[in-house]
Formats: sequence, C-alpha cells, structure tokens
Amino acid sequence: MVSTPSQRLWVGMLVVFVVLVVELPGALQKCIFDEVQVQVRVVEAAPVDPDSPPSETRLRAPAGQEQQTANPGFKGSPLQAVKQRSSLGGLVPPTAVSPQPIRIRTWVPEQSDSLSEAEKDKLEAAADSPHRTALRPEGAGLTDTDFLLYLHVQATDKCRAEPNVLAYAVHCQTDTHGRPVAGVVVICRDRLSGAAYSHQTTVQTVIHELFHALGFSKDLFHTWRDCSSSTQVGVSCFPRGKVTHTDGSGQMRIYTPSVISALQKHLASTDPELGGPLENLDAPPGGVSSHWESRLLQGSIMAAVLGDSTTVRIDPVTLAALQDTGWYAVNLSRAQSLVWGDGEGATFGSLSTCHNGSSSLFCTGSGLGCHYLHLHKGECQTDPYLEMCRMYKPLKNGSECWKKENERHSAEEDWSGEIFGFLDSRCFFSSLNRQSHFLLPSSSVEGRCYRHRCTGPNRYQIQVSGSEWMDCPAGGTIQVT
Ligand SMILES: *[C@@H]1O[C@H](CO)[C@@H](O)[C@H](O)[C@H]1NC(C)=O
Ligand SMILES: *[C@@H]1O[C@H](CO)[C@@H](O)[C@H](O)[C@H]1NC(C)=O
Ligand SMILES: *[C@@H]1O[C@H](CO)[C@@H](O)[C@H](O)[C@H]1NC(C)=O
Ligand SMILES: [Zn+2]
Repeated sequence: MVSTPSQRLWVGMLVVFVVLVVELPGALQKCIFDEVQVQVRVVEAAPVDPDSPPSETRLRAPAGQEQQTANPGFKGSPLQAVKQRSSLGGLVPPTAVSPQPIRIRTWVPEQSDSLSEAEKDKLEAAADSPHRTALRPEGAGLTDTDFLLYLHVQATDKCRAEPNVLAYAVHCQTDTHGRPVAGVVVICRDRLSGAAYSHQTTVQTVIHELFHALGFSKDLFHTWRDCSSSTQVGVSCFPRGKVTHTDGSGQMRIYTPSVISALQKHLASTDPELGGPLENLDAPPGGVSSHWESRLLQGSIMAAVLGDSTTVRIDPVTLAALQDTGWYAVNLSRAQSLVWGDGEGATFGSLSTCHNGSSSLFCTGSGLGCHYLHLHKGECQTDPYLEMCRMYKPLKNGSECWKKENERHSAEEDWSGEIFGFLDSRCFFSSLNRQSHFLLPSSSVEGRCYRHRCTGPNRYQIQVSGSEWMDCPAGGTIQVT
C-alpha cells in the first residue's frame, strides 16, 4: 500500500491515553482529578427553552477527531469559544459561527490576600499570566513518515476484561482532509506469553488493527474521499459523504465503487445492491460497525473474529475498501483469494438461504465434516456472528490435517486410512473402513485426512494409507478397494 504524498508528519496531541503528570524535580505529581471530581456536586443548568434566543457564548471543545488537524502549529488555546453573531458583520455570513479565543476569567478568593508578594507573583505567573507559556515546545516533527503508530504492549483493564482480545487500536490524529496520520495499537501483554502464542496470529491481529487505524473504521467512513477524477494520487479529491446504507433486506453495507465491484466479482453477480456488508452484531440497530459481516466475508482479515491463522486472508474486498478511502493507492492484485462465497451469487450468506442447502459452504445439524478450506476437520456449528447459520468450524483439538501429532493410533476396526502430517494432507468427507470377516456397522461420513495432489484445474488425485494415487472427481465420490 502506498500512501498519498504527505508533508512532514506533525505529531500533536495524543487524545487517547493522555494522563496528566506534571514532573517536578524529585517527585512525580499524581493527578487526583477523578478522586476529587466525584466528591463535588455539579450545578447543572436548567433545560434550554428552544424558543429563547441563543446565549451569547457557547463553549466548544475539539471533541470529534475530525476537528483535529495534523498541524499543531496552531498557536491559540485548543479550546475555542463559538460566538453566536446576531448581526451581519464584515465577511461573516449571517449563519456562520466563527470561533474566538476562549475567555476564562480567574477569581481568587480574598483570604489569598495574606499571600506574600513573592507568592502572588508566582501564582499570577502560573495561573493568570497574559503571556503564553510553552509547556512543550513544538518539535521538528517526523520526517519520512506518513503514519505514526504508537505500539503499546500493556496489561490494560480492557485486556483483563476480555480474555479473547489480543490487541485493540484507535486512530488518534487526522490531517485536514480527515486522513488518519497517527494511531495506537495496544497489544495485551499476557497474550505474548504462554504455550498458545502464535506468531502468525499476532501478525494478522496487528494488520487487522492497523487497517482499522488506517481508515477501516466506522468513525472514518464518512471522511473517505473520492479521487476518481484525479490524475495524480491524492490530488483533486472530494468528500464521498455518507457511504453506508442498508440494503433492501436491512443489511448495512458500504457503497463505494471499488468495494462494490470487488464484491460483485467475488460473488459473480452484477446485483447493484452488493456493497461491502458490515457486521450487525456489534452495532446498534440500524447502526454501523467496523467489521465485515461474518456470514458473507468469513475468513476476511476484517471480519470481527479471526479464526486459525491458516484460514485468514487479506481479501480483495478489504483492499478495495482501503483504496476507496481515497488516502492510499492500493495494488488490488496483491489480495489473497477468499474461498468463502467465491462465485456463490448475490443471495449467498443471507439468513434466508444459509439453511436451504443452496451452498455447500453452510451445513445443517451438528455432524462432523471438513472446514471449507479442507485444511482442518470440522464440526457443524454456529456462533453469535453467524446468527443461526452453521458452518464446519475447526475442531477444538486435533483438527489440522498437516500435523502428524493429530494421528490417532486407532484400533484395527476404526481404520479409516488417514494420512496426517504432509503439507498436502487435506480433509475429505469419508466413510472409508477396512473390509473384514466380521460384520461391521457401516461407518458414518465424517471429515478425514488424506493426501492430495492437483493434476489440473479443479482436478486432483488422492491417496489413503496403503493405496496408490487415485483420481477423485471434484464434488463426486469414489470407492477405494
Ligand atoms: C501489483 O502487484 C503485482 C503482484 O505482486 C505486481 O506484479 C505488480 O507489478 C504490482 N503493480 C504495481 C503497480 O506495483
Ligand atoms: C434457497 O432459497 C433461495 C431464496 O429463497 C432460492 O432462490 C433458492 O432456490 C433456494 N435453494 C434451494 C436449493 O432450495
Ligand atoms: C487434545 O488432545 C490431546 C491428545 O489426545 C490431549 O492430550 C489434550 O488434552 C486435548 N486437549 C483438549 C483441549 O481437549
Ligand atoms: Zn477489529
């Protein structure tokens, strides 16, 4: 991914994780704001009568991230008061509100009169001086940097509260066009140790979080930019405005050109309603989330839950979304192909079709079979994100065909000819057992591991324990003698 050319990156205030610590020689001053604030009864204003004239002055803090700029060369107070102008004045249009420096009046109680002159001078210099004090002089900025990622490895409350969270992220600064230029990724410290640690999973998680911080975020969708008419990357773009809408069935989707065409190509459908489907589970009703819908884009790096690392793909629809931010030029041909939903048509993955057998990617019941990539044995299951649709999910234990240690030394009558431990071992639906002099109950079909090799497009051979290579027609069945 190439970012649009940017000026030097200025690092201004970091809005998240800001803790006020004033460092004095020899002592760390702790801020007890929260302890004190909770003890104070706050006087609240009476509800505003909508018919009354607007008050003269309102305070506005730069709360939304879109209000920050990448240029902290801003000299005034970060707080600006918005003055309602009641008369036509100068260049200001009648409805415009133009921010003015905030006016804070200091009141010092009388008992402070007992202060010495020296004490008064110090107080005035610190609290009521007309002169600006630079607490932190402007730095040089960062050269050769388009995005600054603050990477924290911490054991935070969020990590403790959510044992399944490996990392989380935010963007914390945007430039004047809304493009994120700085972000934070917190990796939960505990997840870096322990036997279950997986390098691949950690890499994928960092990529997932980074994609959020780079623009795949519900807080940034509305600032994405349309650069289709520009000849140079990032030049003469304009805001796309609202890009998320619900389709006819109530599915929230992102409607931007590259996302639409990537999804249409993926599902092999020209249905114009096909925008990038967003997960509804983490969103309020009718609201937007920052992940793809699991039923439709299972296995995508931007699904809400990342499964086993071998099943996760940096897919074409996700790269298309990054392209449609308008902030990056993306080489879409670098996408990893997504098997889930490939060529399945516009109704794939909907709640009304996932049970009716129209796609072999979904299953019904609770039997054993194969995960759709055939690297794992699977069990037909659902989860909250699948919303009652069911798919073969990797078994909790011993599901990987490529792991030799998953070979179980089964008794003679359980023989099913499995071959584990090869890179080309794959899961097949099989009821294979050994002919015997004894009358055996016919074994049921389940997922079993055999070797395979490709002989052409959609043509392959398989090998079971002790057999030769045999042609196995895709979607068909064979008998092994
Ligand atoms: C895009 O990626 C493909 C595949 O890696 C590569 O062959 C091609 O040169 C890339 N195109 C650009 C413009 O970098
Ligand atoms: C499944 O349902 C869809 C939509 O109702 C329908 O178009 C399709 O033909 C059905 N498929 C089967 C196999 O019943
Ligand atoms: C997985 O299987 C192995 C070998 O059968 C066993 O030792 C281990 O306890 C199992 N783990 C779980 C989580 O079931
Ligand atoms: Zn996420």
